[in-house]
Amino acid sequence: MSETPDHPVNLRRARVDDVPEIGAIINDAAEFGLMLPKSWSQLYENVREFVVAVDPDDDVVGVCGLSIIWADLAEVVSLAVMRKYRGRGLGRKLVEAVLDEARALKIRRVMSLTYEQAFFEKLGFAVLDRQKLPLKVWADCVRCPKNEACDEIAMIKVFDDVPEPPVPPPSPPSSFEPPVVLTDLTREGKGVDPGFD
Ligand SMILES: CC(C)(COP(=O)(O)OP(=O)(O)OC[C@H]1O[C@@H](n2cnc3c(N)ncnc32)[C@H](O)[C@@H]1OP(=O)(O)O)[C@@H](O)C(=O)NCCC(=O)NCCS
Repeated sequence: MSETPDHPVNLRRARVDDVPEIGAIINDAAEFGLMLPKSWSQLYENVREFVVAVDPDDDVVGVCGLSIIWADLAEVVSLAVMRKYRGRGLGRKLVEAVLDEARALKIRRVMSLTYEQAFFEKLGFAVLDRQKLPLKVWADCVRCPKNEACDEIAMIKVFDDVPEPPVPPPSPPSSFEPPVVLTDLTREGKGVDPGFD
């Protein structure tokens, strides 16, 4: 493929055979401190989260993922465009694709932890007080070298037309106990009458 990327670029779901190229793009940006590096294991495990931008040879030139955090919150993750392809609208298209996905999944809020405040503002995100994010968001931070000294900006986009999700029932207990069979107990004269014949 030529060095001047004037050809069209398409978006599609990522496949496992894209992972080496996805990793190269993410880890190139990570070397410049623009985002966190990802291990091969993290990329393969999460490949279904990613949308990729591909050139006419089907080579990956950009990537973005949507990671679901909770019923009303997802995160834009692993957004990176190959350096020579930046500034031609690909980053916008990739984020818009995962925003469409969030909306289709009826997820009301999408967040990002980023240094690219101006870029995300153009896509309708607003800066958010990091303390307002749920603890679950910080699960990755234990693996991050910056950990306590994190300087990423928390940003959020809210789809006003997507309703708040229903409150889920409490999680099931961690140890499962088989239900008592009332009729058996009753037959042996030890149980309660279940109240039906
Ligand atoms: C951030 C990144 C994905 C943007 O991709 P891109 O393809 O260059 O962005 P686009 O061309 O789609 O830009 C969309 C808009 O944002 C603007 N924009 C892009 N980067 C910007 C920046 N750093 N500062 C201000 N505006 C920016 C563009 O001018 C464009 O504005 P317009 O729609 O008014 O013309 C890309 O620079 C990148 O891969 N950076 C390294 C990795 C990184 O920082 N990822 C973010 C992790 S959260």
